[in-house]
Amino acid sequence: MNIHLETERLIIRDLTEHDLEGIFVLDSDSRVHEFLGQKPITKKEEALKYIKDVQQQYTESGVGRWAVETKDTSEFVGWCGLRLYSDYTFNNHTNFYDIGYRLRPKFWGKGFATEASKECLNYAWNTLQLKTVYGITEQHNEASHRVLLKIGLQYIEDFHYEPENMMLRWYSITNPN
Ligand SMILES: CC(C)(COP(=O)(O)OP(=O)(O)OC[C@H]1O[C@@H](n2cnc3c(N)ncnc32)[C@H](O)[C@@H]1OP(=O)(O)O)[C@@H](O)C(=O)NCCC(=O)NCCS
Repeated sequence: MNIHLETERLIIRDLTEHDLEGIFVLDSDSRVHEFLGQKPITKKEEALKYIKDVQQQYTESGVGRWAVETKDTSEFVGWCGLRLYSDYTFNNHTNFYDIGYRLRPKFWGKGFATEASKECLNYAWNTLQLKTVYGITEQHNEASHRVLLKIGLQYIEDFHYEPENMMLRWYSITNPN
């Protein structure tokens, strides 16, 4: 198990095929997809494809969304972390690092997204030595908006994301070091 980071309550590690059930439970839940275009998955194959896509991110850019699990019970909480968007354009930006998270509803409201993503930002500054990290949420995703602000990102503006015909919010933070 390739562990990247630890927080007080969480382990942050590579996502693997062993997380298939966890990703399926996460991504087949319509509550999770309320602000993600409401397209929950219905098949295990889709969960496996997601894991493979993330593993490709690890290979191609050395970083990607990481699995989050609880330290005390080793339960699969969801994922969080950095992704290099080199193949998509958002708000006229390509080739940028985004911070994101997606957790199972039973773990919402405990500060886990904030705890995990704060540590991922430290990794962005101290290990990757990035200059800037961006954040994106759907316009009405207040929980995600709160998390981004709590970890220090600044809300910049709303923008229209043409491929999904969605209104999204754009955030950024620069390396404090
Ligand atoms: C967004 C998400 C990761 C937040 O996870 P979490 O662990 O519950 O987040 P935290 O507990 O660290 O913080 C959530 C904050 O949002 C607030 N919040 C939650 N729901 C809210 C709502 N409907 N309106 C306003 N604020 C809300 C909480 O009160 C908390 O803020 P506070 O600490 O100032 O009180 C989780 O809801 C999730 O996985 N959602 C589905 C996937 C998703 O939307 N991902 C983000 C895509 S951009």
